[in-house]
Amino acid sequence: MKASRALAEIVKKNAQRSKADFLNLDGVKFQFVLAWLQDLLANAAHEVLGKTDPRVDAIMKRFNDFLDAEGEDLRRRTAEIGRDPGHVLEVDVAQVDPAEVDRVYSREAAGYDSKHHLTTRGQDLQWRRAAGWLVAAASESRPAVLDLCTGTGLTAVEITRVMREHRREADITALDYNEAMLVEGRRRLAKMPDLGRTITFMRGDATAFVGSAPPGFHTFARSSFDIVTQVFGIGGVGNPVAVADNVLSVLRDGGRFLLIDMHRPVLGLPGEWAVPGFWVRFPRYEYFNYAKTTLPLVLARLWGWRDTTLDFYLAPLVCHEEEGVPYGFRLLWRVVESERWWFGLPLMPTCRLLLEKVRLDRSEYDRRRHILKLIGAGA
Ligand SMILES: C[S@@+](CC[C@H](N)C(=O)[O-])C[C@H]1O[C@@H](n2cnc3c(N)ncnc32)[C@H](O)[C@@H]1O
Repeated sequence: MKASRALAEIVKKNAQRSKADFLNLDGVKFQFVLAWLQDLLANAAHEVLGKTDPRVDAIMKRFNDFLDAEGEDLRRRTAEIGRDPGHVLEVDVAQVDPAEVDRVYSREAAGYDSKHHLTTRGQDLQWRRAAGWLVAAASESRPAVLDLCTGTGLTAVEITRVMREHRREADITALDYNEAMLVEGRRRLAKMPDLGRTITFMRGDATAFVGSAPPGFHTFARSSFDIVTQVFGIGGVGNPVAVADNVLSVLRDGGRFLLIDMHRPVLGLPGEWAVPGFWVRFPRYEYFNYAKTTLPLVLARLWGWRDTTLDFYLAPLVCHEEEGVPYGFRLLWRVVESERWWFGLPLMPTCRLLLEKVRLDRSEYDRRRHILKLIGAGA
């Protein structure tokens, strides 16, 4: 009850703050309708002609051509979105401001657990458990785990639950820079001494936990951990490359890094909506909804979050030398899956990225450094 009242207040406050955005939707509203129409047409064509019939594409092309008459900008956008599944729509949400993120979590700490559970329709549990299953699959007898941006430690607790089912334990360091979230985490652990025995909360910055740090912030020696997890933590950090670089340092050779967060809808791989009698797909609508509503309102304003999609493609490129030996990541697994939100709507996918620390040969190392430099993300 308390959590839902708090949520209602936040939504109200944010709706006021973002009134200008909503009143300013003009063209966007129109594009929403067009996106729906296009999707409806595609669904109808699929139903009538079969899902793989090339005539569906022909119909969509005609429809896009028809839209040409609706103005240059609209034509360009719909054509790009309709025909090129790899097209990335510009999303104009500002980068995160660490002070604002800290304020958001200081304000949210007390109600964080239930609010996150509520807004994700309880799906957060399975994302956190995924971290647990990864740790349980570790060959190390007692894995050393670092849970980055741990917040109130929900992922750390879920890891210990899965481990307990396997009659095993892991030593978990739960790191966050927000004092209020850590206080809530410690308070919960005090109530579950059995589960919490192997979890240690620490204050630290996910972009600087190796080397020197301000007083009160923890750092770690190189090769201290077998596994690093970061579940819904990267979107509040402005420099994901620095995070991956720190992770690479603290992992031992062969250590794994699991990153889970939001991902833009992939046009060619939409989710499905259940309509009595059949399943329909609304890829364009999904995309607009993410770019124009979910990202600016729910993620950015409610949670201080940014678009994390690029992080899943940048992190695997991060590499550095350790005593003259080039190290980087091997991509083990990258899954982008449309989730079912409230009322079963597939409004936004999540991504699970699993990387392993490996030695790189010099040419691969140089290639990755070069790519990062070219795109302006190099150290
Ligand atoms: C959405 S919460 C996620 C908490 C937790 N991982 C979970 O799954 O519930 C994001 C957390 O990231 C933390 N955070 C943001 N930037 C950080 C940084 N640079 N270093 C450490 N923690 C940070 C915030 O304080 C917040 O607790």
